[in-house]
Parts: sequence; structure tokens; C-alpha cells
Amino acid sequence: MKKTFLSLILFLTLAGFIDSIYLTWEHFNNVLPPCSVNNLFPILSDCGKVLKSPYSVIFGIPLAVIGVIHYGLLTLAVLGVIIYKKRVFSYWVIIQSIFGALASLYFMYIQFAIIRSLCLYCTLSSLISFTILVLVYIFLKKERFQLHTSLYAFIYQNFVKRIFFLLDPEFIHGIMIKRGAFLAKTPLIKFVGSKLIYKDNSLKQKLAGINFENPIGLAAGFDYNADLTQALYYLDFGFQSVGTITNGAYRGNPKPLLGRLPRSKSLMVNKGFKNKGARAISEKLGNLHFLIPVGVSIGVTNSQEIKSLEEAVKDIVISFKTFEKARVKNSYYELNISCPNLVNAKKFNFYPQKNLDLLLAALDKMKLKKPIFIKMPIEKTNQEVVKMLDVIVKHKSIKGVIFGNLQKNRKDPSLLQSEVKKFKVGFFSGKPCEKRSNELIKLAYKKFGEKLVIIGCGGIFNAEDAYKKIKLGASLVQLITGMIFQGPQLISQINLELIDLAKRDGFKNIKEAVGIDSR
Ligand SMILES: Cc1cc2nc3c(=O)[nH]c(=O)nc-3n(C[C@H](O)[C@H](O)[C@H](O)COP(=O)(O)O)c2cc1C
Repeated sequence: MKKTFLSLILFLTLAGFIDSIYLTWEHFNNVLPPCSVNNLFPILSDCGKVLKSPYSVIFGIPLAVIGVIHYGLLTLAVLGVIIYKKRVFSYWVIIQSIFGALASLYFMYIQFAIIRSLCLYCTLSSLISFTILVLVYIFLKKERFQLHTSLYAFIYQNFVKRIFFLLDPEFIHGIMIKRGAFLAKTPLIKFVGSKLIYKDNSLKQKLAGINFENPIGLAAGFDYNADLTQALYYLDFGFQSVGTITNGAYRGNPKPLLGRLPRSKSLMVNKGFKNKGARAISEKLGNLHFLIPVGVSIGVTNSQEIKSLEEAVKDIVISFKTFEKARVKNSYYELNISCPNLVNAKKFNFYPQKNLDLLLAALDKMKLKKPIFIKMPIEKTNQEVVKMLDVIVKHKSIKGVIFGNLQKNRKDPSLLQSEVKKFKVGFFSGKPCEKRSNELIKLAYKKFGEKLVIIGCGGIFNAEDAYKKIKLGASLVQLITGMIFQGPQLISQINLELIDLAKRDGFKNIKEAVGIDSR
């Protein structure tokens, strides 16, 4: 189908080329074309009046010659798309066809409004330009989306990020959340935003009973008070986790809460579950309908008052009950057992099999209808992780695992020590999480891939990073840091490129790629 229409575009560019060559020949030989003697519609078609007018030459160059160059280049670009299938040729065709149509619009205006006569050969050229633009608009839709996301990426990375990165990261985070929530309430922005989303069946999956339009989600921690649930659809996210939310509200650890390590492609995180608490957030979400699957990430309240494992389990169960009672329409829960920034972290932990079993048994008892995914640590050994997974698969309420949380090891080779030294507290997101996240996805997929949905998280900065996690065994992926470094258009860019990567490897749907590198 696409090939047929590309051939049609090629035919039109060639027609425009021949038309322009004829007009050029006519110009240099001072010959008037036959339409100059049309007696039936003298006003409508006097080519001579147009072709001899001062408007037929720009900066000393006859328009007809510009037409030859325009259609000649366009023909080459279309041939490039057909033969080499390279994206750069598609971008070239799109940009040139926009300029061609705009120029044609201007020339038609000159003929109608100023010269008050039409040249049929010039009008034919304009019609060809408009038809090419319409065909390009329809049949190079994905490439069009790719072009404008590349443009946004350029603007973000070269201008916006440079300014943002001069300012306090916590301040910028706050601004982005406020602006995002505000924009999602503006009808015009919503309308425009909805036109900028490219949907493709090859990215759709149904997992744990939930329909996902695409596999890219926002990881827990960015939208910690659930302010962006109406906004992220417009950034092309396939799902999002809000939180981590705790039973008791928490104002955040002593500052700094956030820091940047640009050369390590990482963020220092020391928030310690800063959030407004389960009650306030569940009340806010209670009446909302969500455009994408929303997950509520729940963790233990960050307080010295929680002194034992039993108290911690009770605290977590209360948060789950609060959300259930408020009838929030979230699609899933995320259970965060791996936050490294808690004041009570030394008093208990959920890693030993016995402790994890106690927590998950308490959740099983709630008989929740929504699946729970567990946010796993990445600093445990393979053996320890397998032991945790052995417990997890025995509990019915747990349908999946997320690999994983922040990098705790300050000496990880992917972290530049000169950057780490700037921070006395906190743990690290982004690239330093990637290697271990990928290893654990592979491990979990090999041993438990049949029983658990695996979600990959850590260090995704482009489509290749996401695809790697998918091929290792992740059905879905989540990110935060990549979006902050690359720009909010990254989600669309990843989705668009995943379609091509899956197609390149012969998969009709992204789910066919899941785990192929771990089998
Ligand atoms: C600012 C920030 C806050 C975070 N807060 C949470 C959190 O509250 N709960 C959680 O499970 N993970 C939290 N994380 C960890 C992320 O969800 C994710 O696991 C980690 O950043 C790796 O993904 P990334 O490399 O795409 O950022 C946070 C990460 C960042 C950058």
C-alpha cells in the first residue's frame, strides 16, 4: 500500500519536473504556450500575462528553473525513500513538500489577486505540489511524527535543558509537575496533544488483565503526589506509576533531595518517599478517569515510629485499604520494597524470605482484584533475588516484578567519582542502574518468565535501551532519568522507533520480541 502511494508521489514529482522543464524551455526561447490564446476563459487562462510578468523571475532566476530544481530534488528524495528506505530521505520529502506547497500557495495568490490571470502550466504545478503534500501527510505519517519529535529533541537538548540544568533540580521538578498538570486541563493543548500521538497495533499488549497501548511507562518517583494522571497520555506514555505513596505523609529527607550527575547520565535521589500520604492522594484520585493505566506505588511510611516488621506490614496494608476504600480506578499497584532512602530501613527489611512472605501473605488476604507488581532492589546477589522470586511466585496477588530501583553502590564503575563526591547522601538513577537491571531481567525471565510479568526499569535513554530490556524478557519498561536528560518527546521517539525495530526483526507485535535474547 505504502509502496503504491510512494510510486504515485514519484509519478507526480516527475510530472512536475517535466512541466517545469517545458516552462523553462518556453522562458528561454521566448515562446508563449498554447493557453495564451484561450478565448473561452481569457481571464482565467492567459499564460502569457503570467509568464511575462515581473513575478515570473525571482532574484534574476526564472521561477520555471526553480521548479526544475525543486521537482528534480524531490524526485531524488522520493527515490531515496523507495530504494534506501532511510529516514533522512523521508524527512527530506516531508520538508520539501511543505515548502513546495507553501510556495505554490503564494504563486496562486499572485496569479489570482495581483496579475488577475492564470497560467495553466503553473496551476498544474501548484496542483501537483498540493497533491504531493496531502499524500505525504497521509502516507508518511510515522516519518512525520519522527521528524517533529527530532525537532523537539533538538530544541530541548540544545536550549531548554541547558537552562534547566543551571537551576535547582527540585525546583525544576516542581515547575514541570505544576505546568504539566495545568496544560492537561487546557482544552486546546489537549486537542493539539492528542494529534501528536502515534498509535500502532504492534505495540499493544494485554498483560495481567490490563490493556497497554504501548510498553513505555513513567516509573514511580516522578509524579509522587499523582498530579500528572491526566497529562501523561499526551506525552505518549503507555502507563504510569504514581507515588511512592505512604500511609503517613512525609515532607522529604533533609536536603539535598535531588542532584544531577550529567557525565554519569544519572540523578542523585534522596527523597525518602516525599508525598502527601495515602488518604489525601486517594481522595484526589477517587473521582478521576484515567486515559492510560495508572499504578499506585505503595511503600512503608518513612518514620522512626515504625519500629518492627509487623508494624511495617500493617502500615502498608492500611495504604492499600485506603486506596480500595476511595475506589480509585487505578489499574495496578506497585509494592515498593526497595527504597534505599528510609529512616527506618535499618530496623527491618523485606528481603529475607520469611519477612517477604509475611508481607505478601497480608496482601493476599485482602483479595484485591487489581494485580500487584513488586519493585525490586538491584543490589542483591542473583541467589538472593532468586530466593525472593521463589517467595513471590507463591503469592496469588503478585503478578509481576519491576527490575529495578536505584543504584546503591557509590563505587559502581558507571559513576564518575568526581561527580559522586559532590553528594554525601542519596542513591543513583539512570545509566548506573542499567547493567544490573538488565542482568536481573534476564535472570527472572529465564526462571520465572512463565509466571510473572517482568517490567524493566533503569537507564533507558533511547529505543535501543528499551528494546534491549524487552528482548531480555521485559514485557513493559519504565523510565524517569532518560526523559529528564533527553526531553519529554523521548517517549514518542522510543515508541516510534520500537515499531521499526520490531518490524526489522520480523515481529508483528512487540510481545513476540519479549525474552528472545534470554531463551
Ligand atoms: C527523582 C526520583 C525519585 C524516585 N522515587 C522513587 C519512588 O518514590 N519509588 C520508587 O519505586 N522508585 C523511585 N525512583 C526510582 C525510579 O523509579 C527508577 O527505578 C530508577 O530511577 C531507575 O530508572 P531511570 O534510570 O529510568 O530513572 C526514583 C527515581 C528518581 C530519579
